[in-house]
Amino acid sequence: MDELIVGRHFFKSFRATLFDYAELTRKLRTLSLKSSCPCLKDEGCWQKRNERRRSLTLASGHPNVYCTRQGRMLASYPCEVALRETTTRPVFEPCSRLHELMAEEGALYRQLDPQKIPQHVAIIMDGNGRWAGKRSLKRFLGHQQGAESVQFVVETASRINLPFITLYAFSLENNLRRPKSEVNFLMKLLRNYLVGNVKRMNDNNVRMEYIGRICELPSEVQDTMQWASEATGRNTGTTLTLALNYGSRSEIVDAARNILTDLIAEAHQRGCSLEDLLQVDGIEARLDEHHISGALYTAHMPDPDLVIRTSGEQRISNFLLWQIAYSEIFITDRLWPDFRGIHLLEAIQNYQKRERRFGGLGETFTDEDLDSLEPAADVAEEIVSELTPKQLIPR
Ligand code: FPP
Repeated sequence: MDELIVGRHFFKSFRATLFDYAELTRKLRTLSLKSSCPCLKDEGCWQKRNERRRSLTLASGHPNVYCTRQGRMLASYPCEVALRETTTRPVFEPCSRLHELMAEEGALYRQLDPQKIPQHVAIIMDGNGRWAGKRSLKRFLGHQQGAESVQFVVETASRINLPFITLYAFSLENNLRRPKSEVNFLMKLLRNYLVGNVKRMNDNNVRMEYIGRICELPSEVQDTMQWASEATGRNTGTTLTLALNYGSRSEIVDAARNILTDLIAEAHQRGCSLEDLLQVDGIEARLDEHHISGALYTAHMPDPDLVIRTSGEQRISNFLLWQIAYSEIFITDRLWPDFRGIHLLEAIQNYQKRERRFGGLGETFTDEDLDSLEPAADVAEEIVSELTPKQLIPR
């Protein structure tokens, strides 16, 4: 039986990675090292609806490719697979469904600047447990109510033409540190949510995606996730990304490992050492911010413009650390199960009042402001005694 070594990464199966853009990018790159596997034929890319696809086919007589790691067979996948090309941003087609907003949402929306709707809103959904506790209910019921909020908020997002919304639904730390019973409940809730809401997603033209170490989730959950992403994959409106078994530090570790693995593979292909490869172009050309952004799970999305956290906690909790370098942060005391579309619009209204400076001076800073600045030398002289330790000032 032919074997294809796909590097050091374990992919449970192709099916399991189809919906995970970052892993898929890696898979594509690894599989494109097909010179080591003459039976694998790359049929190239083509455009299908809003997706760029790529087909890899095994030559006849090779029904399966086997993925091995350290000599151990881990998985097999079918001989013909169509893959989404992962580096292109999904097509976004704005719609005119503002009339579907609820009356109070519509009134608030009319106060917004439609040109300044964020491209990407990321939400840390927090407070399910407290919501339940306040009502003397079990924590599970808080999560259940939280799942209702997800759908309300996503539908409002789609009506206002928000291209990307990313929800932190289940962190790596939740997976490791919460009681097994709660983790199991969340997995069950996720499956029920997907099964119960795909039709509504399609009615709202919402496409579903996921980020995180998806292949560590139970296989039946992965299957449902893949089904939901495929069932909504042709939609062209809002992309809803659920962060599941997600941790930002591990995402960065995964990205670094993949960049390194790719470089080693390229060196191997060219028959030189990694050191030689890096010397040819210089390490700066091989590793900069774009390479890291491009290796993250979120490679195909813009960075979030706005991060919302519910329940009043003032922390980021290992969520999209790289991507939110210049995001605006909005924290509300409202608990997630009480959060609705109107509250998303309130957060966007607050966001629109902010001046984003990205480390610069901002749009309101004029040449006149510049003129009024004192020359640096004068300022330096004036403040030298403040900045220099007293014993160093020449007398
Ligand atoms: C934080 O509340 C929330 C979570 C750990 C899970 C988020 C899950 C949902 C919103 C529901 C399921 C989602 C989908 C997409 C079906 P917490 O338990 O930490 O609340 P607490 O801080 O008040 O205890």
